[in-house]
Amino acid sequence: MRTDFRSIRVETADGIAVFRIHNPPVNQLSEHVVRELADAFAGAFREAAVQAVVLTGSGKNFVAGADITQIKDIRSREALLALLHENNRVLNAIETGPKPVVAAINGACLGGGLELAMACHYRVAAPGVDLGQPEVQLGLIPGAGGTQRLPRLIGLPNALDMITTGKPIRSEKALERRLVDEIAPTETLLQAAIRAAKGFLEGRHHLALRATRARHERLPSAAEKKALLDFARLMTAAKAKGYIAPFKALDAFERGLHFDIEPDLAMEAELFADCLFSNVARNLIGIFLHTRAAGRLPRIEGIPPAPVRTVGVLGGGVMGSGIVHLLVNEGLNAVLWDIDDAAVARGMAGLRATFDYHLKNKKITPEGLEALFRERLTCTTDLARLKEADLVIEAVVEDMAVKQKLWKELEGICRPEAVFATNTSALPITEMASVLGDPGRMIGLHFFNPAHRMQLLEVICARKTSDATLATSVAFARAVRKIPIVVNDGPGFYVSRQLSAFMGASVFLMADGVDPAAIESAVVDFGMPMGPAALSDLTGIDINYRVNKTFEMRLGPRWKVHPLTEAIYRTGCYGRKTGAGYMDYSGPQPVPNPKVAAVIQDYLKQHGVAPRQMPPREIVDVLLAAAVNEAAYMMEEGICDRPQDMDLAMVYGTGFPPYRGGILRCADRWGARPIHELLLELEKRYGPRFTPARRLAEMAREGRTFYPEGA
Ligand code: NAI
Repeated sequence: MRTDFRSIRVETADGIAVFRIHNPPVNQLSEHVVRELADAFAGAFREAAVQAVVLTGSGKNFVAGADITQIKDIRSREALLALLHENNRVLNAIETGPKPVVAAINGACLGGGLELAMACHYRVAAPGVDLGQPEVQLGLIPGAGGTQRLPRLIGLPNALDMITTGKPIRSEKALERRLVDEIAPTETLLQAAIRAAKGFLEGRHHLALRATRARHERLPSAAEKKALLDFARLMTAAKAKGYIAPFKALDAFERGLHFDIEPDLAMEAELFADCLFSNVARNLIGIFLHTRAAGRLPRIEGIPPAPVRTVGVLGGGVMGSGIVHLLVNEGLNAVLWDIDDAAVARGMAGLRATFDYHLKNKKITPEGLEALFRERLTCTTDLARLKEADLVIEAVVEDMAVKQKLWKELEGICRPEAVFATNTSALPITEMASVLGDPGRMIGLHFFNPAHRMQLLEVICARKTSDATLATSVAFARAVRKIPIVVNDGPGFYVSRQLSAFMGASVFLMADGVDPAAIESAVVDFGMPMGPAALSDLTGIDINYRVNKTFEMRLGPRWKVHPLTEAIYRTGCYGRKTGAGYMDYSGPQPVPNPKVAAVIQDYLKQHGVAPRQMPPREIVDVLLAAAVNEAAYMMEEGICDRPQDMDLAMVYGTGFPPYRGGILRCADRWGARPIHELLLELEKRYGPRFTPARRLAEMAREGRTFYPEGA
């Protein structure tokens, strides 16, 4: 029997062969691993001395999925179907083979990993490991029998839930649902699996009955199946708008789950192909891969980041308290500084409030929380206590003079290699750093509210930020599990300016007679979490107004505040915080605020504008064109240059629908030429806000795309 595999370690003792998959970093089922598995099993089935096989993984993973990089670029349906057919052949050979195979699930068992485990005849799992079919999160469905084997093991309702949401379950729940047959401590997992294998040899388990394909007892009757799937379709339609895969998974259940599994596997493969070749999957896979690569920049390649263990946080307000939560929760030491005892006490109260959810859901006990604070947190009003900090994050009031004074003082206190990071939303960081002897140590770390929950961290390089400062900041972001998007200093950095361009274009439509409610519903329908008016009411109409004013001042007439924006601002209705903005929040349900509605009506009357019906698609096109144009301006200005990072920032920072891939992904699919043409029309109608960027005009002329690989 062959044992010289690259990614499978084989040991045979006492008639049992143990196959240990070892394909770092996460034991993916890459093509060569599948090939080696096929060889290894064929060998074991032939070898008389082997009576049973135990299959396990190495490190923290059994198998954490297929290798998406290997399938994402397959362009031909035939090639894909051939690959899926081959994978199915390997799993079927295990399932229908002459010898028992026991999966010893030592760690994460996801996607192709679970499909592999389900093709085995018995499953023993270590405690607390994740088992799941997360494919829908990449716009796919399980493609190696998952949709057909999972319902056989755990019943359709549970399988439906796991596959359409993609959420994994822990081994304890898997045991309850009978996805695994036993749980055994990690240290004795292998022995337990070997014992189970011997159980087959000693007649306690029966191979033919244990094959998943032979288990029909939990499959629903035709009537049950129809009722379940009808209901699931309704629920999925409400929850998964814009996605394809959850619906394809339902199709796979509907058209499959027959007595004979073989045709059902072929049908599943066809549905998998439908998913893979959709734009939705392409976008979601792109987001997934770009997320993994975020922060890996040529500029800092090979530069070792400084270790960050202790972080000083200046200001325990809304942002500071969230940042401290993040730090202590991720195992770092935090020193929280604020101006006086009362401010520190407010900061502590705010910090505790950020843990309410965790306490309520028993993710931490009150004693555990106090112990965490005792162990990891120091509060102070004395800046000298920040002496040991490796990194200081400043989140005090948005005032340049206040911030600069603090930094100057800290320069005399902290070690010269400590990184200074500001969480300013809009102040120029290059200017802020100018008071320092070494401006190279300063950077922007722009957290989003709530800081402990939002995944995005916008990392802003000022003109003199050093590579070492950037490398440390990016490594810190990764260490606290944020997605770092690196951009250069400029008004609103990237995210605020991009979002302002997108949402802000709506005022031109309102001033042109388009009903604000129609704009809201078009934007929500497109997949944004809320429309421009709802967003303004949430962030504050006054804040948006000031942002717009700053853009006007720093970016010039193209960003001139629209007279209708001025008029709405002058009503003094600033949104939720004043009880009313575009909507009035005083009743049980928000209703349009008559004051703002009247201002809009007056404006239209004064300018002789008639109401204008506009299809939702056209509304969104105007907003998108404005956003794409702004992105092109920002690239021209050197604010950012990586489309993949820009798209991630919008997805993680603003809730841009991931299945659409991001603004630049949309732009590439739409085409620079039609966008440019639309912008020229809009410029004529609405003025310079829509004047196309030079870069976009060039792209249109030369037929280029934002992403190097195209649409
Ligand atoms: P906040 O008003 O909740 O907290 C401000 C903090 O500054 C408090 O801890 C306060 O005690 C302290 N402070 C007040 N006067 C001070 C002074 N003279 N010297 C030093 N400290 C003083 O503000 P928030 O919302 O936490 O914002 C803090 C920073 O984060 C600002 O620069 C803001 O632009 C930025 N930011 C805010 C976001 C948000 O959504 N709230 C999002 C991203 C950035």
